[in-house]
Amino acid sequence: MTGAATHLHSTIATYQQAFREHGRSEAALLWTKNKQAERFAALCKAIPDTSTTVLDYGCGLGDLAVWLSTHRPRAVYLGADAVPEFIANNREALPGLTFTHVEHPDFLQESYDHVVCSGVFNLNPTKTPEAHWQYVQDVLLALFRRTRKSLHVDFLAHDVDYKHPQGYHQDLSTLLSFVERQLSRRYELDRSYMPYEYCVSIFKNVEIERSRNVYASPP
Ligand SMILES: C[S@@+](CC[C@H](N)C(=O)[O-])C[C@H]1O[C@@H](n2cnc3c(N)ncnc32)[C@H](O)[C@@H]1O
Repeated sequence: MTGAATHLHSTIATYQQAFREHGRSEAALLWTKNKQAERFAALCKAIPDTSTTVLDYGCGLGDLAVWLSTHRPRAVYLGADAVPEFIANNREALPGLTFTHVEHPDFLQESYDHVVCSGVFNLNPTKTPEAHWQYVQDVLLALFRRTRKSLHVDFLAHDVDYKHPQGYHQDLSTLLSFVERQLSRRYELDRSYMPYEYCVSIFKNVEIERSRNVYASPP
């Protein structure tokens, strides 16, 4: 098994253990304090309520699907996750929605208008922060290839006074430098919705109206 596969399988094993202990709950996702509504509203701010396709990469227990059904009812949803037990349970609990088991975005065949990636990089069970950051970049590059319009990703903030030993807290300036150099200069950082997490929405459409030097259309 490669280092990347071992790393991911430790992450998967951690979620499997939490799911065995807690069942279908936020504790199985290692989330706390019922903050999904605030998190999803920030992540999806730039996703319109039109019949666009949304890939929820690292969907966990499909909470975003439930949120979208109220807040973006016209969105067409696909949930993808590396934990087979989450996928099987979602298919039972949320019939009518589509879920697929996948361990890397390159295994997905399609493209999607919007990709949301919530909490996927929170755990770093085996690597140095530098090595985990390499992994994060690899997955973000692959996800950006999968979207036609935008990628929305969140992280635990770097400047907090408590860090879980297996938690990964993303340095903001390192992230933004990567986004600008390797993904797109058209992005929006949001640190306004929670003190200890932030998200970035990264847009594909960078066409410029040259006569005024503004973007030619909304993202
Ligand atoms: C903190 S949970 C968040 C779940 C969901 N996005 C949410 O916000 O409720 C992180 C999820 O990312 C998934 N994940 C982590 N690495 C992954 C990868 N490489 N491919 C697919 N899913 C992954 C985990 O299995 C887990 O379900």
